[in-house]
Amino acid sequence: MTQPPLLTHNNKINILAISGSTRAQSSNLDLIKAIADLTADRFSITIFEGLSVLPHFNPDLDLDTENAPPAVVNFRQQLQAADGVLICTPEYAVGVPGTLKNALDWTVSSMDFSQKPVALITAATSGITAHKALLGTLLIIESKITDEMQLVVSSVKTKVSKAGKITDPDTLFQVNKLIHAFTDVITGNGVPVYLPAPSAR
Ligand SMILES: Cc1cc2nc3c(=O)[nH]c(=O)nc-3n(C[C@H](O)[C@H](O)[C@H](O)COP(=O)(O)O)c2cc1C
Repeated sequence: MTQPPLLTHNNKINILAISGSTRAQSSNLDLIKAIADLTADRFSITIFEGLSVLPHFNPDLDLDTENAPPAVVNFRQQLQAADGVLICTPEYAVGVPGTLKNALDWTVSSMDFSQKPVALITAATSGITAHKALLGTLLIIESKITDEMQLVVSSVKTKVSKAGKITDPDTLFQVNKLIHAFTDVITGNGVPVYLPAPSAR
């Protein structure tokens, strides 16, 4: 069952947003800012800034959760404090950006994504292949995602402005739909139909 919202910031829902792009002029970061703007009345969005300082995942460094590397401890704490996680990511070489996959690998043992509502947007030139792979990873680590909480935004650079506005009407509609579904899942409104984890091969 989804946990009741923590509602610690001004009675708003706590969201940790992760951009899969560490680029300064990232469209995915612009998209996160646009979503923060659209949800300012209900979400308190913290943008995770530690993606590129996480060490390369190594199971040998992950044997003892008490003594995990400090950057990993920080990441896990931020995930635990969040009512939901918003991931906006590009696709690189028809795959998930390595920095983002590295971050997720650090959460497998600590299960920080287990039962956590996650909204996933892959915003890239195409994005379809990375999206499918990332969705599979998030579902296998037990994230709570409905069909309405995931979206591919292709040709993102023509749809989101540098000022953090979604300029394409259809994308704006889809993003609003995603925000609505994300909010409902976090607040326990309605009866969500979660996507199933991919079957093990
Ligand atoms: C090394 C590299 C590889 C890329 N490979 C893909 C790809 O396979 N599929 C795709 O849709 N876009 C690909 N792109 C384009 C990015 O997804 C696109 O530029 C996106 O806007 C980058 O996200 P950002 O603006 O948030 O940094 C690639 C970009 C780079 C730099």
